[in-house]
Amino acid sequence: MTIVQFEHRPGLLDLGWGHPRPELLPVDAWSRAGAQTLGTYGWQALAYGHATGPAPLVDWLCDHLGDATAEQTFVTAGASHGLALLTQLLAEPGDVVLVDSPTYHLAFKILTDHGVRLVRAPADEHGLLPAETAALARSLDAVFLYLVPTFGNPTGRSLPLDRRRELVSVGVPIVEDDTYRELSYGEPAPPALWRLAGEEGVVRLGSFAKTVAPGLRLGWINASPILVERLARLGYVHSGGGVNHAVALTMASFGASGAYDRHVAGLREAYREQRDALTGALRVPAPDGGWFVWLRLPDGVDAEALLPVAEEHGTSFLPGPVFYAGGGAGSEHVRLSFSHLPPAGLAEAAARLTAAIDAAAGR
Ligand SMILES: Cc1ncc(COP(=O)(O)O)c(C=O)c1O
Repeated sequence: MTIVQFEHRPGLLDLGWGHPRPELLPVDAWSRAGAQTLGTYGWQALAYGHATGPAPLVDWLCDHLGDATAEQTFVTAGASHGLALLTQLLAEPGDVVLVDSPTYHLAFKILTDHGVRLVRAPADEHGLLPAETAALARSLDAVFLYLVPTFGNPTGRSLPLDRRRELVSVGVPIVEDDTYRELSYGEPAPPALWRLAGEEGVVRLGSFAKTVAPGLRLGWINASPILVERLARLGYVHSGGGVNHAVALTMASFGASGAYDRHVAGLREAYREQRDALTGALRVPAPDGGWFVWLRLPDGVDAEALLPVAEEHGTSFLPGPVFYAGGGAGSEHVRLSFSHLPPAGLAEAAARLTAAIDAAAGR
C-alpha cells in the first residue's frame, strides 16, 4: 500500500533517510490533542483559517520561541513549503541564490523549481565564510543566501558564534533554515541568526516535522511584518485561508497542554542514545544535535563507489556530493542518519558499514 514516503528495503539497515523512528511519533498524544481541539474550538477548527495562522498556535509559538512576535510569524505547511513561498516572493527566474556547501540537498530542487541559479557559498571545515560569501553575493547580486546553521543537514555541526555575528553584519539577505534547533543533546543550540539580527536581513524557517511529526506538514516563517503581510496576501492564501488550519490548531492544543515539551524531552533522550550507538560503534565524534553524522572516509575510498559495496553489505547512506549544489565535491564524505533506527540497528549498520569500507579500501 502506498501510504508513506519511505519503507525499509528488505535486508537493508538504511542510514540514508532523515526520517523519524516510527515508534517515536506521538500517536496517542496527538490523538488526544485532536479531540481536545474539536472540543474547545468546535466548528472553528474546521472553518477556513486566519491567513497567517490561528492565534492560539501563533501565540504559543511566539511564547515558546521567545524571539519573534505574532506580526513576524506566518504558519506554513513545513519548512519546505516556507522555502518555496519565500523563493516565489523574493526571487525572479535567473536570479542567483547562494547556498551553503555542503547543505540540505532537497532544498536545491525547491529553489530551482522557481528558476533561480544556485551558486555555492565559500566554506571551510567549520562552515560558511562570511566575508567571502558577502563578496560573492555582491558580485553576483544574489537575492539571498540559504543555510542550515544549527545542527546542520548533512554535517550535524553548527556555525561558530563569531561567524554568526559576522554573517549577520555583512549585508547578505539570509534565509535561515532552523529545522533542527530543538534537537540538542548536550550544549544548547547557539543563538539563531534571526535572533542575532533582529528582523533585519534574516528570515527564519521553522518546522514541526522533526520535533513532532513530518506528516503534520506544519512549520512557520519568521520575517519582517511587511514580508509576513505579503505572504498573507498571496492568492492561494486569500482563496484557501491559513495554511493547514485544523492541524495548526491541533498543534496549539498539543503545545498548550505541555505535550510538546514532554515529547521533545523524550526525543532528546531517544536520539541522544541513537547518536551514541552510531558514533560509538564507528568511533567518531558525536554531533551536539540534529540527526546526522558526516563521516570522513579513509583516503582513497570514494563515497559514490562505496555505496553499492555498502548495499551489498546490507546498509546504505547518502554520498557527500549530493549535498553540494552542482556536485563535483564531497566524495570523501558520507551522510549517516541516526534518526530512523533504534540503537541496536544502528550498531549493526555501523558494523556493516565498517566492513564495506574495509572491503572498498582493499583491507
Ligand atoms: C534542513 C532541512 N530543512 C527542511 C526539511 C524539510 O522540512 P519540512 O518537513 O518541514 O518541510 C528537512 C528535512 O529533512 C531538513 O533537513
